[in-house]
Amino acid sequence: MKFFIDTADIGEIKEAQSFGILDGVTTNPSLVAKTGRNYKTVIEEICEICRGPISAEVLSVDYDGMMKEAREWQKVGQNIVVKIPLTEDGIKAVVACTAEGIKTNVTLCFSANQALLVAKAGATYVSPFVGRLDDIGQNGLDVIRDIRQIYSNYNFRTEILVASVRNPIHLLDAAKVGADVSTIPLTVLKQLVRHPLTDIGLAKFVEDSKKIPKS
Ligand code: E4P
Repeated sequence: MKFFIDTADIGEIKEAQSFGILDGVTTNPSLVAKTGRNYKTVIEEICEICRGPISAEVLSVDYDGMMKEAREWQKVGQNIVVKIPLTEDGIKAVVACTAEGIKTNVTLCFSANQALLVAKAGATYVSPFVGRLDDIGQNGLDVIRDIRQIYSNYNFRTEILVASVRNPIHLLDAAKVGADVSTIPLTVLKQLVRHPLTDIGLAKFVEDSKKIPKS
C-alpha cells in the first residue's frame, strides 16, 4: 500500500518525508486555506520536497474552468495529479484530461457507483472519503470493499486512494481490503508507529543495556 500525506502544511510534509516511506501528497482547498498561503506557491514548494504524485485541486466547478486549471496545474510539475470533484462536469473533465495525458484524482467519492463511473472515465485515482461516511452513520469501509471488488472484476486500472482517514483503524481496514493508497494526516502516520508495549520494552532494554559490561 502506498502512503500519501494529506496536508498543505510544508513543515508536516517535510516531517513525513523524513520517515523515508512517503509516496505522495494530497491537498484540497480547505487544507490550503488553513495555511493562509497561495495554492500555486504551496504546490511548487511541495514539488521540491516530494518526487511522488502530488494532488492539486481545481477550484472551478464548470467543465471549461476545470480544464483550464488542469492544464495550468500540469505546467507546475511533472508529478502533479489534478484533483477533480465527482460531478457531471468533473467526469467529462476526467475523460478529457485522460485523453490529454493529464493524471487525475477524483475527489468527494461516497459510493461504489460513483467510483465505477470514475474508472470508466479513466481516472488515475478515485478518492472515497471513509471518515465523512462514518460521520453520517454509514460504513465507509463497506464502500471501499465494494469498489475493490468492482475494480477487480473488470480489471480497472484506476487506483483506490482512501481519503478522509481519521485513525489507524481506517488505515488497517483499507489495507486488509486491498486499497492501493491511503492518504493520511501526519497525526495518523505517527500513531501507526506507537505501541505502549514497544515503549515499555524499549525502556527496559535501555535500562538493562547499562548493566552490560563494557569489556
Ligand atoms: C484528501 O484527498 C481529502 O481531501 C481529505 O482526506 C479529506 O479529509 P477530511 O474528511 O478529514 O476533511
